[in-house]
Amino acid sequence: MPCQPSNWSHQRTMIFVGLVLLCFPVILYVYYKPDMKFPDFNISSMIGRQPCPKCMHTQELHPNCSNKEHPNDTQKIQVAAVNNEPDTIILIWFWPFGSKFELSCSDYNITRCHLTDDKSLYNKAHGVLFHHRDMRGISNMPKEPRPWFQKWVWWNMESPAHCGQIAELNQLINLTSSYRLDSHIPVRYGSLAPVAPKEETFKLPAKDRLVCWIVSNWGSYQNRVKFYNEFKKHITVECFGGGCHRRISKDEYVKIMKGCKFYLSFENSVYKDYITEKLYSPLIHGTIPVVLGPPRENYERMVPGDSFIHIDDFPTPKELAERLLYLDKHDDEYMKYHNWRKWYEVKMGSFGREHACKSCRYIQNHREYQRFTDLTKWFWG
Ligand SMILES: *[C@@H]1O[C@H](CO)[C@@H](O)[C@H](O)[C@H]1NC(C)=O
Ligand SMILES: *[C@@H]1O[C@H](CO)[C@@H](O)[C@H](O)[C@H]1NC(C)=O
Ligand SMILES: *[C@@H]1O[C@H](CO)[C@@H](O)[C@H](O)[C@H]1NC(C)=O
Ligand SMILES: *[C@@H]1O[C@H](CO)[C@@H](O)[C@H](O)[C@H]1NC(C)=O
Ligand SMILES: *[C@@H]1O[C@H](CO)[C@@H](O)[C@H](O)[C@H]1NC(C)=O
Repeated sequence: MPCQPSNWSHQRTMIFVGLVLLCFPVILYVYYKPDMKFPDFNISSMIGRQPCPKCMHTQELHPNCSNKEHPNDTQKIQVAAVNNEPDTIILIWFWPFGSKFELSCSDYNITRCHLTDDKSLYNKAHGVLFHHRDMRGISNMPKEPRPWFQKWVWWNMESPAHCGQIAELNQLINLTSSYRLDSHIPVRYGSLAPVAPKEETFKLPAKDRLVCWIVSNWGSYQNRVKFYNEFKKHITVECFGGGCHRRISKDEYVKIMKGCKFYLSFENSVYKDYITEKLYSPLIHGTIPVVLGPPRENYERMVPGDSFIHIDDFPTPKELAERLLYLDKHDDEYMKYHNWRKWYEVKMGSFGREHACKSCRYIQNHREYQRFTDLTKWFWG
């Protein structure tokens, strides 16, 4: 009898198919769990570390993993992740100069932040803000141990000339928030925001004075005072404020600012990026700032080059005076300094609130370990 290979092989095939059919769901079950839980949103692990993190967490952005690089999806994912997390707690350790501000971030479209001044939340706070000018050394900083996830933010808007060093801070802080553009959390005194091209042209406020200066902090050692003393020999400068023994009210401040053709935006000290409301205030009130501060290039990082006059543009105070006198007589030339207003509007910074809200967003986006041990060298040079 010939054997019956066909029969045997038929049986074998049946068993094999049966096994496969049986195994498949098991394998599928073991290796594929449709409801597999990914770890909670953990931003630092989502950025860069895992092979295809974008797909795992944001099906709606990438239904498949074919797109490897999508630069700005990172930002979207961060926002999405942040929006899914519990609120980030930011503790304001002292009110700056003792004055309070509103504890809300709605103006910045920054969400999931809980700003507080309640020190009992210290152990839960993700960030604690320390305003430099309110520190007494480190004696009024927290005494309790710091939670491992908490970051301390050094916050300061004064120039190095107007605040003392605290060497111990190098070993304590994680982040910086100041006017310096290379801070972790830079906050400017003001900024320009683009506006839709406007039909109506800018209307110059009525001008009854040529050059004004409002100054409170007066020191004969200051560059600005030395400059002023020479400058005023060549042109009439109306000086107001405590520095000139002509104190004015807040209302008068605006009135004076509007009524002058030029305003001396002289910083009290000259440092990189230290460009204060002394620049933005005349811009907002329809006046041309004449600036004394860091070099022109530094100003041009903040505002258009034709929106101000820089004293460095002139070899001597006398030549600057001559230029202003010339512009006083030539309206068309004078108006060129207002051209930028067609495209931009001025926004003043919001002291405190902006630092707190931007710190919150920064901390939401940077969960990684961070220290900043160079504060003294970086800020005071
Ligand atoms: C986030 O993920 C990173 C790397 O995967 C890990 O080191 C870190 O501990 C995680 N952080 C949290 C808060 O789970
Ligand atoms: C990825 O998804 C897009 C649509 O979202 C689709 O057109 C494309 O064919 C998919 N690619 C692969 C490799 O599945
Ligand atoms: C994406 O965002 C980064 C960081 O904010 C920015 O520097 C970059 O210019 C953006 N890239 C594109 C293509 O828009
Ligand atoms: C905040 O978001 C709203 C709507 O998304 C937008 O209209 C508004 O301009 C945003 N504000 C800022 C300051 O970005
Ligand atoms: C913050 O900085 C301190 C010291 O500067 C360090 O001990 C701590 O681990 C840092 N914390 C985080 C969350 O990076």
